[in-house]
Amino acid sequence: MIFSSEDDAPIALELLPDWGARFGRAAGRLELEIGSGHGGFALAYAKAFPERALVAIEQRKKFAAMVAAKAEKRALPNLLVLCGDARLLAPRLFPAGGLAAIHVHFPDPWWKRRHHRRRLVDDRMSTLLLGLLAPGGLLDFRTDVERYALEAVARLEEAGFANEAGPGRFAEPPPDEIPSTRERRYLATGQPVWRLRLRKP
Ligand SMILES: C[S@@+](CC[C@H](N)C(=O)[O-])C[C@H]1O[C@@H](n2cnc3c(N)ncnc32)[C@H](O)[C@@H]1O
Repeated sequence: MIFSSEDDAPIALELLPDWGARFGRAAGRLELEIGSGHGGFALAYAKAFPERALVAIEQRKKFAAMVAAKAEKRALPNLLVLCGDARLLAPRLFPAGGLAAIHVHFPDPWWKRRHHRRRLVDDRMSTLLLGLLAPGGLLDFRTDVERYALEAVARLEEAGFANEAGPGRFAEPPPDEIPSTRERRYLATGQPVWRLRLRKP
């Protein structure tokens, strides 16, 4: 059983998607991307790692449809793009401890104080992400907003994540990092990016 994010009602395991039937052997390493946007990361990652399965959830229909069409055209059976709010969908799609990695790149910063509650990485989401990861699973978080990064690292460590770089610290980009669409722009202009690589203990 897992618990839905909405009302904490338990969802029976047999009601969750059969990822083995969808992805075959790649389902053995199931990963999630939240807010895939134009899909730069999802498409390149699925191509680079055919033995991994990536579910990308994007709430904007136009973007989700565009990336899904590209995944089909490029014959990437290990990438599934879904349209919807990941905060609601994720706990209904994956069992607790079912994910090897979760990727969250450049979530909308919601600058105004009264909009901060719309931010993706709030207390509830931090606990949900931790619960969905398998022990040792990776949360790969990237942002161009320093204040968001500082708040996120504090909140995620408080929720129970272990920080590979040390408490409160940001990670260097791993040599094999695959940039998201937005990140490619920053790499070209030199704009700073704050990265967190956190593990479920
Ligand atoms: C600033 S864009 C970054 C896109 C991409 N990750 C990148 O780095 O290029 C943030 C994306 O997250 C999506 N998004 C925001 N909240 C979401 C949610 N709760 N569930 C799914 N997608 C979401 C937005 O629609 C948008 O496409």
